[in-house]
Amino acid sequence: MKKEFIDLGKQPIANRFLNEDELENEFFYNLKMGLDEETLLVSQMETVEASDMFNENYVYHSSGTETMRNHFNSTAERLNLLFSPDRVLEIGSNDGVFIKHFNKDTTVAVEPCSNFAKITNEMGYQTYDEFWNYDTSDKILKEHGKQDLIYAANCMCHIHDIEQAFLSVENVLSDNGVFVFEDPSLMAAYLRNSYDQFYDEHVHLFTITALNNILKKTNLEICGVDQINHIHGGTNRVFVKLKNNKKVSKDENNINTVLADEELLDLNKMIAYEFWAENIQNSKMFLYDLLASLKKRDLKLVSYGATSKSTTIFNYCNIGTDIIDYIVDTTPAKQGKLSPGMHIPVVSYEEGWTEDVRGAFLGAWNYSDFITEKEKAFLGRGGFFITHVPEVDIVTKPTCIPCGANKEVEE
Ligand code: TYD
Repeated sequence: MKKEFIDLGKQPIANRFLNEDELENEFFYNLKMGLDEETLLVSQMETVEASDMFNENYVYHSSGTETMRNHFNSTAERLNLLFSPDRVLEIGSNDGVFIKHFNKDTTVAVEPCSNFAKITNEMGYQTYDEFWNYDTSDKILKEHGKQDLIYAANCMCHIHDIEQAFLSVENVLSDNGVFVFEDPSLMAAYLRNSYDQFYDEHVHLFTITALNNILKKTNLEICGVDQINHIHGGTNRVFVKLKNNKKVSKDENNINTVLADEELLDLNKMIAYEFWAENIQNSKMFLYDLLASLKKRDLKLVSYGATSKSTTIFNYCNIGTDIIDYIVDTTPAKQGKLSPGMHIPVVSYEEGWTEDVRGAFLGAWNYSDFITEKEKAFLGRGGFFITHVPEVDIVTKPTCIPCGANKEVEE
C-alpha cells in the first residue's frame, strides 16, 4: 500500500508553456507523493496520463545545454568502450543527442513524442513513435532481434507501470547484454531538499533499494550504479543485466555502498519522508518570505531557466508575476510563452538579461556552477541569485550547489 507523505497542491503540466489563448483550458492535477510500503518505491499518488505529457508538443530538448551534450557524448563513449555492443536500442531518444554516436544500421529507438521521433527517423535511425511497453518490445524483438545495449535516460521514472517496463526490457535484452538507465536520484533530492524533482513527468523517484525490490519480480538484476552529481541535480546511472548473464560482472561493493547510504538515511522508512515533508514546508515559507521582502524593496527580480522544476516551486509556493517579472530561457520553444500554472512570461536571454535585473531565482539550479561563473559580471555589479537548494539562500559569488551524496563518477 502507498502512504502519502507530501501534498504539493494543484499543479499544471510542468513542461507545457502556454500561449495566451490556452490559459482558459489549462489542465491541473493534485501532486502528492507517497511511499509504497512493500517495494519502498516513492511515486505519485495521482498520475497524469502519459499522452498528456509526452506528445508532439513536447519542448524539452536533451541537447539543449552544453553540459547535457557533453554528458551524452561521454556516456556513449564509455558504454561503447565497456560493452562494444552489436545491437543498440534507446528508449526515449528525444532529439538524438545520445543515439547519434551509434551505427544507424544496428541501432533503433523508441520515442513517443512525435516531434522528436521525426527528427531521429530523419537522421536515419529507425524510431518507433510509441510508448515503451511489452507490445513495443515484442515488435522490436521480431523486427530486430535481441539488443546488446539498451539505454534510457530520464525515461524509466516517467513510466507508470514500472514493473511492466522492466519486463519489456527483459523481453528484448540479449543474454550477455546490459540495460543502462539514468534517472534523478531520490537520495540526492532528499539531501538537497530539491523537492522540485517532484513534477508530473517524474511519476517515481528511485532509490536503489526500491529498484532492487522491483527487479526481484523479474529476471533482471542491478550490476552497478554510478552516482552523477552534476547531472539533473543528482542522477543515478544504473546498470542492469539478466540474472544468468555471467559475462557482465556484478559490482557488489559499489551497490552495497549505495544501499548502505540509503539505509543510513532511513530512506526505506516513512520517518525520513515525514521529516522531508517538514523541510519542504519550511523551505516554501522561507522562499516566499525572502522573495516577497526583496520585492518590497522594489528590486527587479527574474527567474533564470524555465525549468520543469521551477513549475513545481512557483505553483507550490504561489510565486507569480507580483514577485517575478519574467523568466529568461535560451530554449526558443519556451520563449514568448507563459509558464505553466503561474503564467510568468518567458523571454529570451538577450531580451531579458538586462542591466536593471537585481536578483534572479535559480530555476536551473542544477547548472549553478555554470550559470554563476557565466554571470560573474552580474554578480560583480551587485546582482545576486536566489536559490532554495539545498536551503533558501542568496548567492553572491560563483558556486556549485553542494550535495551530501557520496563519490561522483568521472565523466
Ligand atoms: P533542465 O535543467 O533540464 O530542467 P528541467 O529538467 O527541470 O526542465 O532545463 C534547463 C533549462 O534552463 C532549459 O530550458 C535551458 C535553460 N537554461 C538557460 O536558459 N540558460 C542557461 O545558462 C542554462 C544552463 C539553462
